[in-house]
Amino acid sequence: MKKIAVIFGTRPDTIKLASVILELKKEKKYFKVITIATAQHRQMLDQVLDIFKLVPDYDLNIMLPKQTLVTITQNTIKKLDDVIVKEHPDLVIVQGDTTTTFVGSLVAFYHQIPVGHVEAGLRTNDKANPFPEEINRRLTSAITDLHFAPTETAKRALLKENISRNSIFVTGNTVIDALNIAIKKNYKFTVPLLNEIILQKKKIILLTMHRRENWGKPMKGACKAIKRLALLYPDFNFVFPVHLNPVVGDVVHGTLDNMKNVFLIAPLDYSDFVNFMSKTYLIITDSGGVQEEGPHFGVPILVLRKVTERPEAVKYGTVKLVGLDEETIFKTAKRLIEDKTAYKKMASAVNPYGDGLSSKRTVQIIKNYFNISKTKVEEFIPHK
Ligand code: UD1
Ligand code: UDP
Repeated sequence: MKKIAVIFGTRPDTIKLASVILELKKEKKYFKVITIATAQHRQMLDQVLDIFKLVPDYDLNIMLPKQTLVTITQNTIKKLDDVIVKEHPDLVIVQGDTTTTFVGSLVAFYHQIPVGHVEAGLRTNDKANPFPEEINRRLTSAITDLHFAPTETAKRALLKENISRNSIFVTGNTVIDALNIAIKKNYKFTVPLLNEIILQKKKIILLTMHRRENWGKPMKGACKAIKRLALLYPDFNFVFPVHLNPVVGDVVHGTLDNMKNVFLIAPLDYSDFVNFMSKTYLIITDSGGVQEEGPHFGVPILVLRKVTERPEAVKYGTVKLVGLDEETIFKTAKRLIEDKTAYKKMASAVNPYGDGLSSKRTVQIIKNYFNISKTKVEEFIPHK
């Protein structure tokens, strides 16, 4: 019997680990699964836990209003240490690039416990973008023993850093496993406003923003572009679930409050969000996860970043990097609204990130690692 500790704490890492946890828990004969939530996010984490019916064995409850990178690190490290000392797992699993990810892997390393990293190998090679995630990923990779790379591109990035080929596995991204759990035909939204917006039958533009490197002026510029679009296209509805960070909320509300066709709403629970996403015309976002989900539905995405660590959908044409310049965002979105050919070119459903089997592959690889089985795991290959 091996003890596996899964550490998570924010909205995206929990969404992307949920299917791995559920899959690990099926293997009762071989694994005892300990779930540890740092709760770097509180309400946005609880929304995800509810959807996937997960109750963490440990909840470190560290979130503070307007927390800094230092306070997250400081408040997580000692509490995580206490749990790891008590449980002494045989493997620690972390996901992605948050401070929870990095600190989780660091504490495991201090106790010489092997680490499995889900969504390993994403790189921009620019330490300021995304900040601090690019460095969180690199630090985590330096510690990791089992690298679950979502794509071939991610695997290549790890090989370039001289990480042993034998420790890298292309699994696909568990973001698609989560989508398969959450997407339902004839879905009724729990937030009544969403049902009302759908009934209006106007085209919908969905927005999300939160990245630290975009705080302040860049975010303000993006919001101004949205405002101009909303004024120019009253027949479109703009729906913006606003991240709970007050730094984000202040800018978004300061620019976009009191507009008839802009709905600034609280973060949606994951099921509402992804089911709503499938009904939108265009998505404008700086999110990592949303960039991976949109292509699944064939919804064009404009990404508010200078660089992306997710080049696959850009290559396929569903995602365009627009940066943070107000004029560029405005003009690019305008073109997609007015030029049907340009729109159609982007709006094709592609799935470069996963096939829904990523968590199954991940768990099989863990079984092989512990010599519980020796089943060969076929790598994920995207189909266009
Ligand atoms: C964090 C991650 C980022 C990830 C994002 C997903 C780090 C450094 N950043 O950024 O990589 O893309 O989550 O959303 O790990 N807040 C609440 N309730 C919540 C969540 C947040 O009130 O449920 C507010 C709090 O005031 C908190 C602030 O938002 O202090 C910022 O949260 P934090 O986790 O530090 O940063 P994010 O921008 O959410
Ligand atoms: N998401 C959600 N509710 C929302 C907005 C986003 O559940 O109101 C989900 C979305 O489907 C995706 C994830 O949150 O899976 C992305 O999280 P976020 O943008 O906060 O972080 P990132 O992916 O950029 O790290």
